[in-house]
This record gives sequence, C-alpha cells and structure tokens, in this order.
Amino acid sequence: MILPVYLYGSPVLRKRAEEIPEGYPGLKGIIESMFETMYHSDGIGLAAPQIGLSIRIFIVDASPVESDDESLKDFKRVFINPEIISYEGDNVIYNEGCLSIPGIREDVSRESKITIRYQDEHFEQHEEQFEGYPARIIQHEFDHLEGKLFTDKISLLRRRLLKSKLNEITRGKVEVKYKIKNPR
Ligand code: NI
Repeated sequence: MILPVYLYGSPVLRKRAEEIPEGYPGLKGIIESMFETMYHSDGIGLAAPQIGLSIRIFIVDASPVESDDESLKDFKRVFINPEIISYEGDNVIYNEGCLSIPGIREDVSRESKITIRYQDEHFEQHEEQFEGYPARIIQHEFDHLEGKLFTDKISLLRRRLLKSKLNEITRGKVEVKYKIKNPR
C-alpha cells in the first residue's frame, strides 16, 4: 500500500524510534508498504518515522540510480534495529535531499565509511561495512531513527536562509508528486 510521507514539522520525525521485537505484528506488510511508498516517491531510502511509525527500521534500494556509481550495485536492504558501530574515513560533503523535506537540497558533511550491525527482515543478524554513497544513504536514514534530519547538520546561516521554505513545508504548502501527510 502506498502510504503518505510525513513532512518536516511532523512530531514523529523528531522522536527516537523504538526497537522492534521479533514477531512484531504486521511487520511484513509494513516493509512491503515502505518499498511501495519509496518507489512511488522516487526515493532510494525510507525510514519508518517517515510513514508515521516510530520504530527502528529503514529500507534502501539504490537500483534506480545504480548506474551512477559502482558501489550502488545490489544495494537493496532492510535494516532493522541498526547500530552504527564505527565511523571511519574522511568527512565528505554531498548534496542531500529527503522525501520529508521536499524542494530542499543542501550540502551535508558525513563520514565516508561505516560499519553497521542490523537485523534483516527475517531477524537474522548482520554486520557489514559500507563506503561512499551507500554509507551516506545509511547515515541519513539512520538519523531518521534518532529523530534527526539533514537540516540539523547544516550551518546556522544556511538554516536561517531556509527558514521560510521550511515553515511552508510545516504548513503543508508544498507541491510534490507523491502522497504526503500534512504536519498539521
Ligand atoms: Ni530522509
């Protein structure tokens, strides 16, 4: 089911999401709906708070953009109860966007390499290292589970310049091609 994406200003985007116990009711359907919603909105990552659920799961599928970068090949995963256990490499700046903050893209600095421990959709434990673009996507989505958004990571000056645009999103005054949930 295609679900509406919660926008900047929605309280659920600012909460720390809850751990998911094995056997969580309806999880299979939630995962299916998350993929459908992400594909419908042309995203390559989506975290549960963005569909209004404060639980620790995010999904990624970079196949629509995999021709952009070799590292994106086969980068399709479900991350449940993820923990980033190490950050390595250099700080890299990249222009990011977010389905919950339509129409805004900003340069964000993040680590180039991470190791993440997580459970997949069958609750099997994994530990994987990612570099480059996948590491970027994971850090962005992981932040959603912590109640953080990429606009928290930009300079005060940039944030001030974006203030009126962000206020408009908070009032639901945006035009997008996907389903959205107005913050108010
Ligand atoms: Ni996002």
